[in-house]
Amino acid sequence: MRICVVGVGYVGLVTGTCFADLGHDVICVDNDQEKIDGLNATPRHVPIYEPGLSELVDRNVKVGRLQFTTDLAQGVEQSLVNFITVGTPTGEDGRPDTSAVFAVARGIGQVMNDYKIIVTKSTVPVGTTEKVRDTIAGETKTEFDVVSNPEFLKEGTAIEDFSRPDRIIIGADDVRVEHLMRELYAPLVRTGNPIIVMDIRSAEMTKYASNAMLATRISFMNEIANLCSRLGADVDHVRRGVGSDSRIGGAFLFSGVGFGGSCFPKDVRAIVAMGEEAGEKTPIACAVTEVNGNQPERIIGKILSHFDGDVKGKTFAVWGLAFKPKTDDVREAPALKIIRRLWELGAAVRAFDPEAEETAKKALGSDLVVARSGYDALDGAEALVLVTEWNEFRQPDFARMKQLLKQPVIFDGRNVYDREKMSEEGFTYYSIGRPVERLE
Ligand SMILES: NC(=O)c1ccc[n+]([C@@H]2O[C@H](COP(=O)([O-])OP(=O)(O)OC[C@H]3O[C@@H](n4cnc5c(N)ncnc54)[C@H](O)[C@@H]3O)[C@@H](O)[C@H]2O)c1
Repeated sequence: MRICVVGVGYVGLVTGTCFADLGHDVICVDNDQEKIDGLNATPRHVPIYEPGLSELVDRNVKVGRLQFTTDLAQGVEQSLVNFITVGTPTGEDGRPDTSAVFAVARGIGQVMNDYKIIVTKSTVPVGTTEKVRDTIAGETKTEFDVVSNPEFLKEGTAIEDFSRPDRIIIGADDVRVEHLMRELYAPLVRTGNPIIVMDIRSAEMTKYASNAMLATRISFMNEIANLCSRLGADVDHVRRGVGSDSRIGGAFLFSGVGFGGSCFPKDVRAIVAMGEEAGEKTPIACAVTEVNGNQPERIIGKILSHFDGDVKGKTFAVWGLAFKPKTDDVREAPALKIIRRLWELGAAVRAFDPEAEETAKKALGSDLVVARSGYDALDGAEALVLVTEWNEFRQPDFARMKQLLKQPVIFDGRNVYDREKMSEEGFTYYSIGRPVERLE
């Protein structure tokens, strides 16, 4: 099949590359000239870090199945199926900003030469795909159909998620289009995972409801963790006890400094915004956002209380900048909030992240001091603040850490370490929702 993917970000680049790898002819379009130049350059610059992606891009470009361009007309003219995968960030009014989606829809309408299928893969408010249809119809007399096909891949495991999805959601109102979408996705569902076809509005809502459900589990467990702290319970034990109930399951129950990223925060806010617009209250989504917004402050509170309310002039090592491991994405990352707060309080920060140095410097400014390794970040620092649970932070050399730090103090924002082990290793150890291990 001939496929065009408009928006070469975390979703678009993975989608385009994976479809090319399945044998399709794919052309990826973005209006960011620098990004496209980098992808076409030798050596190639793949603009995001995603495990396995560079190799997959190289392989498919080499055999001529994957192209990159800024020319929307070129992409649309040669393709039957056109995916819209541009960003839909939270706008200034708190609603999802869908302006890029409509800009692309208008552009597609203007250059359509024959029958096309336009697929919204970006996460968009309910009713958007219908408006995309109206927008395109305003630009062309050529026949076309629209489909909603929200994406569920996760950064860090995006290729695996795309290739082995739990399910494919297709919102379509035309049976021919449904069949074509089924054909497109058939190689990914050979092990029996379902393609679920529904109306367009329900497909759009399914994406928001899924993300909000996962975010709710995290915020709920953070609320329980905060209560555990007050009452002397250990949220780790509670999580195991709760998660082993087969009706509940163990995923997305980890407490910490909260969720970040380009999806959960904005998608929960979008539910609130859609509710406001529809005249329907969404108290659960509101609470999820509130709990999550306060969570980074929990670790700041612990830091302040340990240092008697004054961290001015002290340097903290921060491990982890990305919003989660295995990505360089720092959008709404708790690390950014924590670092900004430490700066506000007069402290200095020396950070380390295996992949997110460049993106974090873009977000926080080039003044951000980034060390070459986790251990370098510790050298002479007052304490360690662990924010992102990269694998390489899980079993560090604690003896070396103790030598490097001014004081053997760890603030663990992800509950990565075993409390008893920390005590044996001689650390004062703070985590989220678990009793403090304090050195006397
Ligand atoms: N990132 C994820 O893990 C993820 C997962 C599932 C769904 N989504 C959803 O997918 C969508 C895309 O997310 P992302 O993280 O890939 O975004 P992104 O910001 O990484 O990429 C968006 C790309 O679109 C390009 N773009 C913007 N306007 C354009 C235009 N008019 N013409 C051509 N290109 C344009 C940008 O230059 C950028 O390269 C969002 O709606 C998001 O909610 C994201």
